[in-house]
Amino acid sequence: MLDFAALPTVDPMLPRPFRVVRVLRETSDVTTLTFEPADGLATIAFGPAQMGMVGLPGLGEVPISFSSDPADPSQLAMTIRRAGAITSALVDLSAGDSVSMRGPYGTEWPMEAAEGHHLLIVAGGLGLAPLRSAIVTALRRADRYRSISLVYGRREVSEVVFADDLAAWEANPAMSMHLTLDRADPDWSGPIGLVTSRMDAALLDPASTTAMVCGPDVMMHAVGADLTQRGVARGKIWLTMERNMKCGVGLCGHCQFGPLFICKDGPVLNWATAGPFYLIAEV
Ligand SMILES: Cc1cc2nc3c(=O)[nH]c(=O)nc-3n(C[C@H](O)[C@H](O)[C@H](O)COP(=O)(O)OP(=O)(O)OC[C@H]3O[C@@H](n4cnc5c(N)ncnc54)[C@H](O)[C@@H]3O)c2cc1C
Ligand code: FES
Repeated sequence: MLDFAALPTVDPMLPRPFRVVRVLRETSDVTTLTFEPADGLATIAFGPAQMGMVGLPGLGEVPISFSSDPADPSQLAMTIRRAGAITSALVDLSAGDSVSMRGPYGTEWPMEAAEGHHLLIVAGGLGLAPLRSAIVTALRRADRYRSISLVYGRREVSEVVFADDLAAWEANPAMSMHLTLDRADPDWSGPIGLVTSRMDAALLDPASTTAMVCGPDVMMHAVGADLTQRGVARGKIWLTMERNMKCGVGLCGHCQFGPLFICKDGPVLNWATAGPFYLIAEV
């Protein structure tokens, strides 16, 4: 097997060629692509929640979080939803196709600072993608957390991503699962309601909880406010945010959120920092 650690590393500013080695169609509009470097150099080593700028010739680049296990660089993956021209072309790629990629960029989930706490992971829809790397990292050292809980909400039964992981996590005694669907569906016999409706069951001890949250803005705003009200410290509620990006490195201003640049100050920010700007911004 190739020893990735022994390969020379590369400037994260430089776009590099990567080849798609595996394609997993998660849903009708979401695909997980696994990549390997096509230039013979080391793959991209990233931390939980970091992103790469992935591009296609003639179309451009978009920021996408890495969704694979940060400890296994041979399986570098991104989970992508069809939104516009670039993501649609990415979702439709096949094994053997090429992309450009640069990174990693951005802040990480505070996995070590959360040790000794109850770890509460809250995902809405495809928000599970940047949280998957946190979950696999936490489960590898589960004894360092008082508990690990996942609250995962989605609008439709068919929206489920990472079905195999969800089944494995359900069976893992270190993990407490709280799945919910926004509204009733004949194919769903579990709880109905928004993710906040699962907090009574999932939140064990607010004073010793670190929360990691990803989903649509409106959902993160609701969870930040709800957890604060329940007694979780604002500085221990972590969000990963999405904004339009161009440069990815703090130069162009496209990703500005209040005084913050999401590409370099984020994407992971805590509620104490981001919350006040949600209140005066678009939500
Ligand atoms: C830090 C970060 C991590 C991300 N991780 C993922 C991921 O793991 N998987 C994934 O599928 N997508 C992710 N995104 C969103 C992804 O970058 C956008 O969907 C993509 O840029 C859209 O580009 P497009 O050319 O396909 O569509 P466009 O035609 O550019 O846009 C289509 C629609 O998406 C909206 N949009 C464009 N860019 C963004 C953006 N950055 N954030 C939110 N809405 C946007 C547009 O306003 C428009 O309504 C992430 C974004 C950021 C900033
Ligand atoms: S994307 Fe250019 S400043 Fe953030």
